[in-house]
Amino acid sequence: MKFRFTIPRKLREAGILSINNRNSQYIMPYNHRKFFPLVDNKVLTKKYAVKHGVATAGIIGVIKHHYQVADLEKIVRRHQEFVIKPATGSGGRGITVVCEHDNEHFVLANGDVINMRQIRQHVFDTLSGLYSLGGQPDWVLIEEKINFSEELKDYSYRGVPDARIIIFKGYPVMAMLRLATRKSAGRANLHQGAVGVGISVKDGRALAAVADDKPVTHHPDNGKHLHEILLPRWDEHLEIAVRCHEMLKLGYLGADIAMDRDRGPLMLEVNVRPGLAIQIANHTGLRPRLELIESLSENAHSGIEERIAFSRENFD
Ligand SMILES: Nc1ncnc2c1ncn2[C@@H]1O[C@H](COP(=O)(O)OP(=O)(O)O)[C@@H](O)[C@H]1O
Ligand SMILES: [Mg+2]
Repeated sequence: MKFRFTIPRKLREAGILSINNRNSQYIMPYNHRKFFPLVDNKVLTKKYAVKHGVATAGIIGVIKHHYQVADLEKIVRRHQEFVIKPATGSGGRGITVVCEHDNEHFVLANGDVINMRQIRQHVFDTLSGLYSLGGQPDWVLIEEKINFSEELKDYSYRGVPDARIIIFKGYPVMAMLRLATRKSAGRANLHQGAVGVGISVKDGRALAAVADDKPVTHHPDNGKHLHEILLPRWDEHLEIAVRCHEMLKLGYLGADIAMDRDRGPLMLEVNVRPGLAIQIANHTGLRPRLELIESLSENAHSGIEERIAFSRENFD
């Protein structure tokens, strides 16, 4: 199938959802604005997830004010590896993955080494809003590092892969696995240069892949064949994503889930405005799937398991 369309009519015919339609037909009517501040802040989302029993990477510390930066050394001394992130950041900006340190030198996932002064500066910049939505003052989340699972480690370059699952009205509708590349520097965000692999809702197997908006078959850095990927513990991924819908009451969301070597699938964050490149990664549009879900009666399926089973039967 050809999917680099330029004519709106052709896009519509292929079932591709545009950004305007996503916003007006799905995000606005189905996502209550009062939940946005909760979802847009990773500290609040994580606390909420813990309360609702949704597995997530643990919080090591939260820095909310400049004067708390003095505590940073104490916090990091207790942990060999951790991730520093802006609480309201997006697109991988400001994420620093520390793999090891000796309290003075910090080795990052992309191989760079920075010192304590640079870490402190990064935290200051983050608090000041350098990476936040709209440049507002922000919090800094220090989170436990997620480590590669055996099955996926060869497919991603120095950064844990991140599965994105779109959930509409509590039904999984489309999925993609994002793999870090040399260019994306330890983060699995498409806009940073990560690879997106379309994943079958049915069974977690790879369908197609995209990098820089172009179809690809192999990982650009390690040459691994992307079509061989089968996401382990796929049923748990689906369950976490649907539980994000249950806990947040958002009709249209993207749940981001990473597989930890020891703990299995963990929720990373929830997106209320999930991007549309997932359609390119899957070589198929979202519209027919969303329309099928909309055509169901409200009580067509009674619970999480029934909705997941319906999606697995209907969406590759
Ligand atoms: N705890 C973590 N351990 C290891 N890598 C992480 C962790 N958190 C984030 N990352 C990496 O950074 C990327 C972006 O993280 P995320 O929390 O989704 O922030 P953003 O909102 O900027 O996308 C992830 O896809 C993953 O590759
Ligand atoms: Mg993300």
